[in-house]
Amino acid sequence: MTDHYAVVGNPVAHSASPQIHAEFARETAQDLDYVRLLAPLDGFAACIADFRARGGRGVNVTLPFKLEAYQLAQQRSERAVQAEAVNTLMFDGSTVYGDNTDGAGLVRDLEVNLGFALAGKRVLLMGAGGAARGVLLPLLDKKPAALTIVNRTLEKAHALARQFAPWGRCAVCGYGELGDLRFDLIIDATAAGVGGAKPPVPDSVFAADMLAYDMMYGKATPFMQAAAARGAWVSDGLGMLVEQAAESFLLWRGVRPHTAQVIAKLRGDLGA
Ligand code: ATR
Repeated sequence: MTDHYAVVGNPVAHSASPQIHAEFARETAQDLDYVRLLAPLDGFAACIADFRARGGRGVNVTLPFKLEAYQLAQQRSERAVQAEAVNTLMFDGSTVYGDNTDGAGLVRDLEVNLGFALAGKRVLLMGAGGAARGVLLPLLDKKPAALTIVNRTLEKAHALARQFAPWGRCAVCGYGELGDLRFDLIIDATAAGVGGAKPPVPDSVFAADMLAYDMMYGKATPFMQAAAARGAWVSDGLGMLVEQAAESFLLWRGVRPHTAQVIAKLRGDLGA
C-alpha cells in the first residue's frame, strides 16, 4: 500500500519538496507518494482534514501556515514548542503530531555536510523573526562558545534571548556594535535577502577563517557576496532545505535518507 504525503503552502508551486522526497523514497525503497497541496489562505485546517480523510500520513508545512500547523498539532516536540512553529505534521491514528525540523536541518548541514562543528565556536545569528526562532534550540544544543543575536529591532532579539535562556546564554547587540567583534560563523536568518537587500552588517566582521551561511538558497545574496569578497567561506541554505526534509522523512518513515546526491542534483537543477 502506497503511503501519501504532501507539502502544504500558499504559494506552493515553487516547492522542491516533492522532488526531494521522491529521491528519498527511491533511495530508501519506501513505498510512498508526495504531492503539492495549495491551501486557500483561510483554508489550511480544512485542507489538512481533507488530506487525512483521503489517507494522508503526514505533511510538510510551508509559508504562511507554520503557526496554524503548530496550533493544529495535538502533540508537539520540544523543538516545535520553542520554535512556536511546525513544519512537519504526522498523522498517527487520531493523533496529530507536530515537529519542527528546520533547526536540525541547519545543524546537520553545518556539521555533517560542511564539516563545521559548532561546539566551542563563536556564532552570530542575524535576525530575530520566525526563521531565527526556529533554529535557536538546535544551535544552543551544540554548545557554541558564544551565541550572539543581532537584529535591527533590539527588543525582538532580547525577547529571543530571554526565551532561550534555559538552554544557553545568548548575547544581544545591534548591527552598529558589530565592528570590532569576531565570529567563526555568521548565519543570516533575516528576510533581507528576499528583497535583494543586505542586513547592515559591517564588512569588517567577515574574515578568511570564518563561515558565512545564508539560510536562503538558489542565488548568491548580497550578504554572501560581501562575505566572499572578504575571503570568507560561504554557503547558501540548500543543504538545510534538504536536511530538514530528511529529518521529516526520518520522523515519518524511521529511516534517514542519504542527502549528498539530492543536494548535488538540486544544485545542478538550480544552476546555483
Ligand atoms: P521570518 O519568519 O523570515 O524570520 P519575520 O518574522 O518577519 O520573518 O522576521 C524577519 C527578520 O528579518 C527580522 O529579524 C527582521 O528584522 P527586524 O525585526 O528589525 O524587522 C529581519 N530583516 C528584514 N529585512 C531586513 C533588512 N533589510 N536588514 C536587516 N534585517 C532585516
